[in-house]
Amino acid sequence: MTPQTDFLIPNTLSLASRAAWGGALTSLADVQRFVAFAKAQQLPCLVLGEGSNIVTGPEVNACVGLSRITGIRVLEENPEWVRLEIGAGENWHHLVMTALANGWNGLENLALIPGSVGAAPIQNIGAYGVEISQFVQAVVCVDEAGAVQRLASAECQFAYRDSVFKRRGELVITTVELQLHKHLNVNLSYPDVARWCAEQGVVQPTPSQIAGAVMDIRQKKLPDPEQMPNVGSFFKNPVLPASQAQALRQTFPQLSLYAQPDSQQLKLSAAQLIDIAGCKALSQGPVQLWQKQPLVLVNRGGGTCAQVLALATRIQQRVNSRFGVWLEIEPTLLTRLG
Ligand code: EPU
Repeated sequence: MTPQTDFLIPNTLSLASRAAWGGALTSLADVQRFVAFAKAQQLPCLVLGEGSNIVTGPEVNACVGLSRITGIRVLEENPEWVRLEIGAGENWHHLVMTALANGWNGLENLALIPGSVGAAPIQNIGAYGVEISQFVQAVVCVDEAGAVQRLASAECQFAYRDSVFKRRGELVITTVELQLHKHLNVNLSYPDVARWCAEQGVVQPTPSQIAGAVMDIRQKKLPDPEQMPNVGSFFKNPVLPASQAQALRQTFPQLSLYAQPDSQQLKLSAAQLIDIAGCKALSQGPVQLWQKQPLVLVNRGGGTCAQVLALATRIQQRVNSRFGVWLEIEPTLLTRLG
């Protein structure tokens, strides 16, 4: 891999963005060379998957590597479970489908999430009652000195849309180890999924049927980034102390509150706050909110990073003045580098 200058950064928000240097990394050795190259250039080293969770400025003064290490390998297997080693550059949804085809279950609720396997642990991807952290055995990375580090699940500090990798941007994830199960238990905790099964008359859904349900629900609600550029949820759902959340519900009885496992806190729906605060019709040039799911910002064509951030700020301010809650941006901002 030879780094190229003036490198176009792929991103699903379709923002025009170039990095000082960039290239595709297809092996561990490539990653190590790229980390050393960035150090020699005295520039930050950023490794991206498919650019499906970033907001990137026009010029990024960094070395941007694209993670393209592939492979889905069985490390260990017994009648109960299988342990897999997956290259960071594998497409996430392709992994979900491959797993189901082999009878390796657990990931079905995470079908159709855009992006790569290497990016998945960073924000601890989650949907329909399941998070990737439930399956992670270890995450293998290259550090700033080029050394390989293997972080066991507990060291990854997983939480809602969060992990240690958000705070340690210098770690480049090369492979992810997941343990999946072979039994047929499925997670129907999320009302949308249970409702879908009831409507279809499916009484005991298989993992593949759950994946089908999730794909159908997502396709109806969320814009396909190929057709309507977006980065999925733009804000995190706010998690508040129970007392604050309940006080808010006194004023706004329609608010939904969701219990958080092992905590005294309650999660609110950011989509609902945005909706009640009357933000759904806001826009900034071609950057708008997706009407069926206002947690998603879309770029209808030619929108800029500045417009995305300006719209986000207006939403944050409006929600804050209505509810006293500051919505946190979920995707990674690559705007402070250049
Ligand atoms: N809602 C409104 N007004 C609307 C649309 C929706 O009030 O115009 C309300 C609904 O009534 C519902 C709530 O929004 O109560 C929740 O909507 P949804 O089921 O889509 O879930 P979410 O909490 O908004 C989260 C994840 C999604 C994930 C879904 C399904 C975050 C930040 N987002 O969204 O993840 O797919 O749950 O589990 O946690 C992503 O991270 O990119 C993402 C799409």
